[in-house]
Amino acid sequence: MPNCYIETLGCQMNKADSERMLGLLSELDYKEIDKPEEADLLIINTCTIREGAADKAYSNLGRWNKLKEQRPNTLIALSGCLAQEKGQQIQKKMPYIDIVFGTHNLHRLPDLLLERIKSGEKQCELYEKLPEEIPETPIIRQTTVTAWVNVILGCNFNCTYCIVPQVRGREKSRSLDFIKQEIEKLVADGFKEVTLLGQNVTAYGLDFNDNTSLASLLRNIHDIEGLERIRFLTGHPHHVTDELIETVAELPKVCEYFHIPMQAGDDETLRRMARVYKVDKYIKMVEKIRSLMPNAGITSDFIVGFPGETEEQFLNTCKTIEKIGFDSCITAMYSPRTNTPGAKWELDPNLKVSADKKQARIVHINALVTEIAEKQSRKKYPVNSIHEILIEGRSQRNSAVWSGRTRSGKVCNFIGNPDKKPGDLVKVKVEEVNPWAIKGHIIE
Ligand code: SAH
Ligand code: SF4
Ligand code: F3S
Repeated sequence: MPNCYIETLGCQMNKADSERMLGLLSELDYKEIDKPEEADLLIINTCTIREGAADKAYSNLGRWNKLKEQRPNTLIALSGCLAQEKGQQIQKKMPYIDIVFGTHNLHRLPDLLLERIKSGEKQCELYEKLPEEIPETPIIRQTTVTAWVNVILGCNFNCTYCIVPQVRGREKSRSLDFIKQEIEKLVADGFKEVTLLGQNVTAYGLDFNDNTSLASLLRNIHDIEGLERIRFLTGHPHHVTDELIETVAELPKVCEYFHIPMQAGDDETLRRMARVYKVDKYIKMVEKIRSLMPNAGITSDFIVGFPGETEEQFLNTCKTIEKIGFDSCITAMYSPRTNTPGAKWELDPNLKVSADKKQARIVHINALVTEIAEKQSRKKYPVNSIHEILIEGRSQRNSAVWSGRTRSGKVCNFIGNPDKKPGDLVKVKVEEVNPWAIKGHIIE
């Protein structure tokens, strides 16, 4: 049996796509292995959100080229967002890449692979957009207990820093029937939690123009028997309606967790990023969430050093972060991307924020984010408080310790009761609180 190794970079969307590739490859009898040096087929599923993400792909490909020199029959495939952006150019520069495909034609992997093997010719196929009907593919899960479920592809926003709309295309929701079938099958296979995925998941169903929404999707899948928890990722503040917040509060299986990237806490910066909301709207959204679910997890992404961001605007963002009190934030220095307005502004010396300033701002914001995460952690998960945890597996650091998450998304490591197993819901009493995780033990 031939075997394959997949390296997955980037976000959950790519993780879900890699599971589809494994599903497709299993139909050709490929077996997944975890040693690239022994693989017949090496796939790198790439990200291009920042230059650093693209660089990771290039250095990985360089290493694989060396492997291929030793084992010339090894095939190398390039997929994902960087492939969609410039796969053809990359293959020209790195002719040892055998197969290139993008985010819109993942389902073509088996045909491209067979064609490469049959003809000996290099393959490169990129679609400009998704096919009219999104092809359903087999999936081989990389997780147990919790699973990713794609519900909407693409993004209709045009944030001025972002390359995602170029490489993932316009929004396309997946039919409710397919989603439901997938979740029913997951539950039959023993999964307990699903995370509904989309670059802009809060726009789910709007393209159907029939009143379908993320809220109605949540209601629709809620009663699937055996399913314990439902999450969704990533939301956009523009589409977080009162109805959605009320639905999350009302439905017991839907976890009180909101990852809603804010990007900046300053109105002028938000306007120039084309985020289509103001600070005030975001704060009202948070107030609404907390009025119904006081301990909801609220997390966000922020970019520092966007072209034109003044020191004062940056400090406004810091003040906003403090005021809102996020449970955690993913932060990044602005990185210019091809064919975006931001990349043009970055060339203007009056607008570009210097590398030194970007560096200073990220250090400052990260310290603040940690401080606030710790405060929130102590407030929401005080020592001796009790929380419902879904056991996901063993802790990565210590195999004697279980790991899982609270409903609000906080990582929890804990000990106790050897009869318990991944997939069980347990009550855990907190013993220790850190900014990013809590520790405790199971109580009966
Ligand atoms: N659709 C989501 C997430 C998009 S990508 C949203 O709307 O928020 C994930 C994160 O990468 C973004 O939230 C943003 O913070 C960051 N990001 C996107 N483009 C970037 C760029 N050019 N430079 C730095 N960070 C970027
Ligand atoms: Fe990018 Fe903005 Fe779309 Fe998010 S909403 S994927 S940041 S364009
Ligand atoms: Fe990266 Fe593509 Fe996700 S650019 S962040 S892998 S959608």
